[in-house]
This record gives sequence, structure tokens and C-alpha cells, in this order.
Amino acid sequence: MPKSPASPPSPIPAAWRPDLDRILLTSDQIARRVEQLGREIRRDFAGRETIVVAILNGTVLFLADLIRHLDFPLKLDFMGVSSYRAGTTSGEALLTKQTSADVRGKDVLVVDDILDTGKTLDRVTLQLRQFKPRRLRTCVLLDKKARRQVKIKADYTGFQIPNEFVVGYGLDFAERYRNLPFVAVLKSEIFLAGDVQRPTARPPKSA
Ligand code: IMP
Ligand code: MG
Repeated sequence: MPKSPASPPSPIPAAWRPDLDRILLTSDQIARRVEQLGREIRRDFAGRETIVVAILNGTVLFLADLIRHLDFPLKLDFMGVSSYRAGTTSGEALLTKQTSADVRGKDVLVVDDILDTGKTLDRVTLQLRQFKPRRLRTCVLLDKKARRQVKIKADYTGFQIPNEFVVGYGLDFAERYRNLPFVAVLKSEIFLAGDVQRPTARPPKSA
């Protein structure tokens, strides 16, 4: 599985320079890897009608690109998860939106943006398993293994990344930066002091 490259660094577009430390994955690197993931998934799910369950909101760009590489009949569905957090204790994943499709006896592919502590994917897969899908597979674009608190592994992973807070290609900080076409490390001064990994800070000042 490709690791995020150490060099050469890609230049950050001027508008984003005040907020971003460096680009971790360029749009070309992402596109190539998403195509490979699509190929793997196509091979494994060949011909089977599948329900693709995407976790809102971080998957929007990844999902749109990934499903264009899939050639079997699929239905799209969405789940919402919010991570409740009090002080410095890590949050529990709460479901804010359930799937609408009936997944019983179906092939299901869960798509999320990033596997961090693992609580989100664990919660989502636990929920979906209750409805007895025929098969349940998970796909994440990014994996921050160093942060794992729940023993869980995705079936398809785009990139292993270091333990840093990243934004772009769907991933946000305070709901911003989702529209960046690349994945970048957010500058540390953007975070609230003391909680670098799961910031709950006010939005960054630059407009
Ligand atoms: P987990 O439940 O701790 O695995 O967290 C998964 C969710 O946390 C992801 O779906 C993201 O929404 C969010 N998250 C974790 N790490 C990052 C990051 O580096 N940047 C942006 N969002 C993140
Ligand atoms: Mg998310």
C-alpha cells in the first residue's frame, strides 16, 4: 500500500499558504490510487448488486471519484456519524443519520474518508451487521494507524499517513478545506492549544 511520499514537496497554492503546512498527497497521486482501489473493488464485487454506504460529509470527493471506477450495479446510501467529545476524553461515535436502503442479504461497501481512532468505522459496521448483509467490506482513503483505539482494519485503504491532522479532498477542519483538490497538513497554529488531533477550535482566521 502506498505510503505518503516524503519528497519532493508540492508547492501550496498561494491562497492556502497561510493555513497549510505542506501537501501530503497531490491530486495526481490521489487519482492514481483511487483508480487502483476501484480496480480491486471491481474485481472483488464483480457483477454483484452492491449498496455503497458512504459516511457523511468527508467522503464526498472520494466517493464521487471512486464510484466512477466501479462497473457493477450499485445503490448509494449515506450514514451520518458525529463524534461527541468532552474535554480531552476521546469521543463516542453517535449515529446522526441511518441508511435508508435495506441491506439485509445484500453486498455492502462502506466508504469513509479516514480511519483514525477507529470508533466511527466500528460503530457503523456494528450497526450495519445487525441487518445481516450478505457481505460487508470497508474502504477508507486514509489510515492513521498510530491513532487507533479500537482494533479495526479497513479492507481497502488508499494511503497510510503519519499522525498529523490533514485537510482537503473532503476532509475538513471546522467544516473548512473540504474543497481542496489535494490532502494537506494543517498548520499547527490553526489548532486550539492542547488538542491538536481532534480540534474543536474556532475556524481559522484567514478568509
Ligand atoms: P475515528 O472515529 O476516530 O476513526 O475518526 C474518523 C473521523 O474523524 C473521520 O471520518 C474524520 O471525519 C475525522 N478525522 C480524523 N482524523 C482527521 C484528520 O486528520 N482530518 C480531518 N478529519 C479527521
Ligand atoms: Mg468523517
